Amino acid sequence: MTDGGRSGGPVFSSAGGAAAGAAAAAGPGSAAVPGPGPTAPPAQGLTAAQRPGSGPAPGPAPAEAPALAVLASGRGSNFVAIAEAVRRGDLPMRLALVLSDVPGAPVLERAAEFGVPTVVVEPAAARDETGRYSRRRYGDLVLEELLRRGVEYVALAGFMRLLGGELLRRYAGRIVNIHPSLLPAFPGLEPQRQALEYGVCVTGCTVHLVDEGMDTGPIIAQRAVPVEPGDTVETLTARILEAEHDLYWRALKRLATEKFVLDGRRVKFVSPAGRE
Ligand code: GRF
Repeated sequence: MTDGGRSGGPVFSSAGGAAAGAAAAAGPGSAAVPGPGPTAPPAQGLTAAQRPGSGPAPGPAPAEAPALAVLASGRGSNFVAIAEAVRRGDLPMRLALVLSDVPGAPVLERAAEFGVPTVVVEPAAARDETGRYSRRRYGDLVLEELLRRGVEYVALAGFMRLLGGELLRRYAGRIVNIHPSLLPAFPGLEPQRQALEYGVCVTGCTVHLVDEGMDTGPIIAQRAVPVEPGDTVETLTARILEAEHDLYWRALKRLATEKFVLDGRRVKFVSPAGRE
């Protein structure tokens, strides 16, 4: 698939796996990721439900489904929504790891309930030669854990730490975050409070590729959520969270089963049939 030539950006493909990251790391203009032709279905990750004429395929993703790691610092409701989608057979991925930077974070217990392996990478382990916390070093430690488990896709879900360095290069096009606002509005902390204080009538949530910035990467998917009269931060947060729980696994499914090209900041998906 060489749609990248038309749009001038790198091609990201579910079939590329680690190769996709390598090609992306080479930057714009790099060779297209080898993958199936434009009319061929994605090489991996198709559930029976996606094949014409076959019925739904409930149950966990098969062992050959692409491996997903969820990175989270807290509660883990987005992890649970993703794990449930995998369990239902709606998301053709395999949960290979939950990684947290917070020992004892509730998400670790949620992961154990779903039988997903967990690891804590403590920030204290990521000091540089001067003894100071190093974002690059932290990223390297996370990268080691991901590679050790053959992780192909990474979903940040309430992971309260910026990542950088080699990790982002290796997982370019395959590492995403969810943020509870319609980016680029209200990035950073407390976006629901920001939205209420600004007085918007509509806010929502965004799934985007992760880059070095804070909530700045190219947008994969968004869902609008109304702000109701009388909303508090809590009621608005709950309404957005409900949308997040549905949006995130759908965005991950597209990532795992379709190719996309980056045209500047625009993420252009190319359907399995070769149409955008
Ligand atoms: C979600 O609102 C997510 O968008 C934001 O942090 C929150 C995490 O919630 N990045 P949970 O831990 O998934 O319940």
